[in-house]
Amino acid sequence: MGSRTIYLETFGCQMNELDSELVAGQLANLGYRFTDRADRADVVLYNTCSVRENAEQKVWSRLGDLKKTKAVNPGLVVGVLGCMAERDGAGLMDRMPVVDVMCGPSELDKLPALIDNAVRTRESLVTADLPASEISAKESALQGGASRRSGTLAAAGDSLEYLDLSRSVSPIDPVGSARRSAYVRITRGCNKFCTYCVVPFTRGAEIHRPPAHIIEECQRLADTGVTEITLLGQTVNHYRFEHDSAVEVDGMTQPQKGRAFRGGHRRDPLAGDRVTTFADLLYEIHERVPSVSRLRFVTSYPRDFGDDVLEVIRDCPRICRYLHVPAQSGSDRILSLMNRGYSVGEYDEFVHRAREALDQPEIGRPLMISGDIIVGFPTETDEDFAETVSLVERSRYKSCFIFKYSPRPGTVAIDKIPDDIPDDIKRSRNNALLSIQNRISDEIGREQIGRTFDILIEGPSQRALKATGLSSRDAHRALGGVQLTIGGESAIRQSSDAVSMVLEHSDDDMVQFSGRTDGDQIVLFDVARDDARELPGSIRRVRIERSSGLSLFGSLLD
Ligand code: 5AD
Ligand code: SF4
Repeated sequence: MGSRTIYLETFGCQMNELDSELVAGQLANLGYRFTDRADRADVVLYNTCSVRENAEQKVWSRLGDLKKTKAVNPGLVVGVLGCMAERDGAGLMDRMPVVDVMCGPSELDKLPALIDNAVRTRESLVTADLPASEISAKESALQGGASRRSGTLAAAGDSLEYLDLSRSVSPIDPVGSARRSAYVRITRGCNKFCTYCVVPFTRGAEIHRPPAHIIEECQRLADTGVTEITLLGQTVNHYRFEHDSAVEVDGMTQPQKGRAFRGGHRRDPLAGDRVTTFADLLYEIHERVPSVSRLRFVTSYPRDFGDDVLEVIRDCPRICRYLHVPAQSGSDRILSLMNRGYSVGEYDEFVHRAREALDQPEIGRPLMISGDIIVGFPTETDEDFAETVSLVERSRYKSCFIFKYSPRPGTVAIDKIPDDIPDDIKRSRNNALLSIQNRISDEIGREQIGRTFDILIEGPSQRALKATGLSSRDAHRALGGVQLTIGGESAIRQSSDAVSMVLEHSDDDMVQFSGRTDGDQIVLFDVARDDARELPGSIRRVRIERSSGLSLFGSLLD
C-alpha cells in the first residue's frame, strides 16, 4: 500500500477534526501518504457532519463532482466517514454509487481495513479490464442503532478507545509541522437528546474515557511539544468516570482509583471515592502535566456546572478562563420544546455564578463566555425571539454562533413539531442577532484596551502569511506540508516553518504575529524579525492598544 495517496477533507466540528487527525495518523502508519488534491488521490475521504442540512449539502456536491474524476480514474476509492455515513446508512451508497466505503464515527478504528479492502478490490477489478459500470467494491462499518443498546456499549467504547490511544502511543502529525495545540477527547457521544439534534443518534451513547488514558495522552502530547490542550466532549462538563464499572484497555496504567481531590476545593459531595468527576479530571491534568500552559475544554452544558469545577478553574492558573456554554434560546417555552433541561433563569444564574467566581480583569483574566443560539425553532414567536435577544444582551458573549433551525431526519423535532417558521423570518432573526452580537463583541474588545494579558503566541498572522503573496495552498506546499483540509479551506497550521516562509518572502523589519489570550481572544502584534523564530508556542505579556471586530491589537511588553 506504500505509495497510495489519500485526500481527506473534514467538515463540521472539532470532534471531527480530531477524528480526522487520528484516522490520518493510523493511515500514515500503514504507509499511506496525503495530498491536498482530490483529483490526484487514490483514495478520497470526506469526514462529514449532519448537524445542519447545509453541511450535508456540501458533501453531496463534492460527491457529485467525483463522478467525473472516477470516470477518468476507475481505481479511485471514495469514502464517506462520520455522521452522514451513520445517518444515511446504505441509502447514501444507493443515491451516490460513486461511494465505496462508509464508516460511522463510532467505527473509525475499522477504517484502515475497509480502505485496504476497497483499494485491493477496485484495483483487481480495474486490472481485469471490466467496464467501469461493473466495478464495485463496497465496504461499510456503521453502528446502526447498536450504540444505544447498553449491552454493546462497553465493547463499542473499548475498540474505539484504541483509536485515541494509538495517537498517544505514536503521535503522528500528518501535517508535518511542529504542533503546539491539540485536542484530547474525554467523552464520546451524547445522552441529552435535545429534540433538534442528530448527535445522540450518529455518535451514540455517552461514554467517558478512563482518566488514566486521558492524562497519559496529555502527557505524551506535552512531551512532543504541545503547549495547549483542548479537552473535547459534546457535554464535556458532564464527565464522570465510575472506576468500578468501566472497561479499561489492557496494558495501560490503571487509573488513580479513588484518588483524593487535593487542594482547598469543595468536591462534589455526591461523588464517591471511586468516581472521577470533571473537576477531578481538570485538576489532575493541571497538576500532572504542568508543561501544558493552556488547558481548555468545549462544549459545556449549562446545567452540569458545579461550583467544584468553577473553583478548580479559579485556582489552577493554567486552566483558561474561557467557557463555551450554548444557551440555544432565551425563551423557556422554546427551551422546553428543545428538551434542553434548564430554564432561562437557571442559565442566567449559571452565567452570574461563573462571572462571580472567575471574572478577574484586574489581573488580565476576564472571563470570556461564548454561546450557540438556534433561531427559528418551530413555533418560535416574535416574543420568544425578543427573549433570546435579551438573553444575548445579558450574557455578553465574547462571540456567539447563531444558526437557523434545520430539521434533521431521525430527530424528535422533525417528527413531532412541523418546521413552521419561513426561511425569510429565520434569516432576518439570524441577521438581527448577528448584528447585536457583533456590537457586543466589539464592546468587549474595546473594554480590553489598556489591559495587559499573557498571550500564547501562535505564529505569523494571516495578514503576514498573505503578504508572502502565496495562495494558501501554495503556502502549504512551501511549508513542505501535506494537510488535512477543513471545510474546503487548507488550514495553515502555525509552525516554525511558517515563520521561515514569511521571513523568506519579506524584507520588513517587523512581522505581524497572532496569539490568543486565556479567554480565547485573538491578539495581533508586531515582532522584530530577529525574534520571530523564538516566539511560537511561548507565553508573553502584551498590552492592548486598540481593537477591531474580533481582533485585539497590542504590543509585546518584554
Ligand atoms: N439546526 C440548527 N442548529 C443546530 N445545532 C444542532 N442541531 C441543529 C439543528 N438541527 C446547533 C446547536 C449546537 C451546535 C453545534 O449546532 O446550536 O450547539
Ligand atoms: Fe446535540 Fe444537545 Fe447533545 Fe449538544 S447536548 S450534542 S445539542 S443532543
